Amino acid sequence: MLYALISDIHANLPALEAVLGEIASRDGIAATYHLGDLVGYAPWPDEVVRLLREKGIPGVAGNYDSTVATDYKHCGCRYEDARQEELSHLSFDWTRAKVSAETKAFLGTLPFRIDLRPSGGHVGGPVVILLHGNQTLNTVYVTEDRSDDFLTKMGEALGTRPGDVVCFGHTHIAWHRVVGGVDFVNTASVGRPKDGDPRAGYALVDVTKTGIHVEFVRVPYDVESAARGILRSTLPDEFAEFLRTGGGQPSRA
Ligand SMILES: [Fe+2]
Repeated sequence: MLYALISDIHANLPALEAVLGEIASRDGIAATYHLGDLVGYAPWPDEVVRLLREKGIPGVAGNYDSTVATDYKHCGCRYEDARQEELSHLSFDWTRAKVSAETKAFLGTLPFRIDLRPSGGHVGGPVVILLHGNQTLNTVYVTEDRSDDFLTKMGEALGTRPGDVVCFGHTHIAWHRVVGGVDFVNTASVGRPKDGDPRAGYALVDVTKTGIHVEFVRVPYDVESAARGILRSTLPDEFAEFLRTGGGQPSRA
């Protein structure tokens, strides 16, 4: 069973359209799911949510989704200096003011976690767990430098067994590691990459009889049209440069 997993779209409609087009051009993908953070940082939050709903793509709540939906005081993002903190608040306030009531209500309905059973559920078999952050909060960053012990505890808290797969986003950087027989997969970011590569990123996870296969895909898209959209909006201009450089400046979302 081959799944396309798209995360951290962050209101970047050109990136989402390119990724969905690339997914549609492939054979054999059984289903596409999103892993949250549909909004924030770019000027198309309503359009991104509408497109995902039109395509019938289910998914989980990212921190940006749940904090916008509940009028929380900030987006639950981490920042490393005063300017990042300021930008984070500007983006959050802009998004809260901009999203339609329908979008906001929809974001509030997203589940925290989705379990997939590619073998059907009537027999044992691998479980594919979809999250945004970790098992407790969608604001926790599960970065590649997390220890085996951290991931073992995460797997235990999620009720995993060897052969299962835990997929999440939030850090905007792809990685994949097997700990205790469980695959941990960070699917990267469609609309706000942070690894220095401006192309949109997503993951293909294939659950087969012989094991789990993970492929990270990069999709070129019209970054300049996304950048122009940001510059035309009242969002901070820095967000355009962030997309052009693939997160050249260290930041968190
Ligand atoms: Fe994010």
